[in-house]
Amino acid sequence: MKILHIDSSVTGEKSVSRPLTKEAVAKLKAIHPDAEVVYRDLVKEPLRHYNAVLRMFGADIPNATPEQKEELETGKTILAEVQAAEVIVVGAPMYNFGIPSQLKAWIDLIAVPGVTFRYSSAGPEGLLGGRKVIVISSRGGAYGPGSPFEPADFQEKYLKTVFGFLGITDVEIIRAEGIGGGPERAAEAIAGAKKEIEKLS
Ligand SMILES: Cc1cc2nc3c(=O)[nH]c(=O)nc-3n(C[C@H](O)[C@H](O)[C@H](O)COP(=O)(O)O)c2cc1C
Repeated sequence: MKILHIDSSVTGEKSVSRPLTKEAVAKLKAIHPDAEVVYRDLVKEPLRHYNAVLRMFGADIPNATPEQKEELETGKTILAEVQAAEVIVVGAPMYNFGIPSQLKAWIDLIAVPGVTFRYSSAGPEGLLGGRKVIVISSRGGAYGPGSPFEPADFQEKYLKTVFGFLGITDVEIIRAEGIGGGPERAAEAIAGAKKEIEKLS
């Protein structure tokens, strides 16, 4: 089994999501001792924003500069990591109602027309099915069903939508929310997420 472990929090030692992704991967490793883990820290090693060169993914670009070639190689590596993984653990804090731009840059590299999704007369078809994504969601406020801020959730809903579009319908969200509500509330939220991690199989 191959596990891809992604972190995208910029808050370093104070991060809520980073220790939780670590714990989730450790739990999976405990259950599947033979699992191979590939780790990507999208903050330590940021990816370039999607651009005209990356748009040429898979095409032969004879005049590519060494920098452009390197960029394309990175894109291929990122895609290969996702294609090889059976489980992807994604640390996804909410920043400004969405996901960190570092994580968006990663998604832009894995959403490749003709490779991870395609359009046909039957509509869009995701080509990354058969794998599971575990999203570790951390956020300052609360956006649950019925809460006044529910419509402002462009983080979890976006991730479910984009992974679903790519064919990954098995998306489990483990959430620590209300982190901005004081230390007690934060501790409670983190403990709740840890309980969910304990249930991973
Ligand atoms: C740049 C930034 C933007 C944030 N924007 C939001 C937001 O829009 N909504 C929210 O509920 N919390 C917001 N927060 C709070 C974070 O979601 C919360 O602190 C969470 O724990 C972040 O995950 P991390 O600790 O792993 O970085 C923001 C935090 C930062 C640093």
